[in-house]
Amino acid sequence: MQITLKQPDDWHLHLRDDAMLKAVVASSAQHFGRALVMPNLVPPVTTAQAAREYQSRIEQAVQASLPESGFKPLMTLYLTDTTVADEVVQAAAEGTILAVKLYPAGATTNSASGVTDLKKVMPVLEAMAHHDIVLCVHGEVTHADVDIFDREARFIETVLEPLRRELPELRVVMEHVTTRDGVDYVAANERNLAATLTTHHLMINRNHLLVGGIRPHYYCLPIAKREEHRLALVKAATSGDQRYFLGTDSAPHTRSSKESDCGCAGVFNAANTMVCLAAVFEEAGALDQLEAFASLNGPNWYGLPPNSASMTLRKSDSVTPLPQPVAVDDEWVMPFDPARPIHWEVI
Ligand code: NCD
Ligand code: ZN
Repeated sequence: MQITLKQPDDWHLHLRDDAMLKAVVASSAQHFGRALVMPNLVPPVTTAQAAREYQSRIEQAVQASLPESGFKPLMTLYLTDTTVADEVVQAAAEGTILAVKLYPAGATTNSASGVTDLKKVMPVLEAMAHHDIVLCVHGEVTHADVDIFDREARFIETVLEPLRRELPELRVVMEHVTTRDGVDYVAANERNLAATLTTHHLMINRNHLLVGGIRPHYYCLPIAKREEHRLALVKAATSGDQRYFLGTDSAPHTRSSKESDCGCAGVFNAANTMVCLAAVFEEAGALDQLEAFASLNGPNWYGLPPNSASMTLRKSDSVTPLPQPVAVDDEWVMPFDPARPIHWEVI
């Protein structure tokens, strides 16, 4: 059995910088045509100039490791309390950025400069709504008193819904949705709302993270939830609904920073995302929807054409080996282990 689809894109990717960028970029470039690159560097990408410079460092890394891929990084700007509306509007108008990223302060890796109160960024959000610039949100509240498993649902209720009522013209992507609450919210809101889903949240639940020993390589944010939530995500991803598309949230960290007494959040799944997704969609009886999810719905939302190249995935009798760990300096970045045998390969 094999299927051919338009070459996929990744609408949520962490490529980092410097040695890490050089080490991991080929894992994405080998399969994806484009990726929306997250701005949570240290310091974050908060200006158009920083976005342009970061984009050219990524392009140089592609040139050095996989020039024939034609991989194109699409850039985001990191929203802070002091972002200036005019700069966002100009950066979008000149094509420097495709979207703006909202991290609630303290929500995840390198989010200390994130937004502390949405009121402070309302002028920017109003300008974005007016100029049709997409807001990508890390949808978790960060108050210490909210349980980590409830943070997404609470965000929808206390932040996202009020924001969308105030600014219905703002186009919002709920990134890496991890709960039934998230997909239910998208399903109930026809206009100006979409969601990305990650590879790992379609494959693991919180038992994978915590039962039989703690598995730091499954620790990511938002944290994996109960199986019932994973099933809701699979249903959404395989539904063919145009509002759901792939954002891998591939987020490389070195092995020592994952396997630590305070381990970093992030799953590095870029290299095996497409074979994993083929397995998920096959199991759901929905292989015919994989192209919409991975290759069509994302460009459609952003008003871009799909890629012209194509990708063929083939099912084999033998088990597809995990990707090799990636060497960075004298360290390793471990690939996502999907916790089940995968029989698909990209040919
Ligand atoms: C991401 C990272 O490492 O940058 N980590 C993660 O667990 N997903 C940040 C993010 O997207 O939340
Ligand atoms: Zn992310």
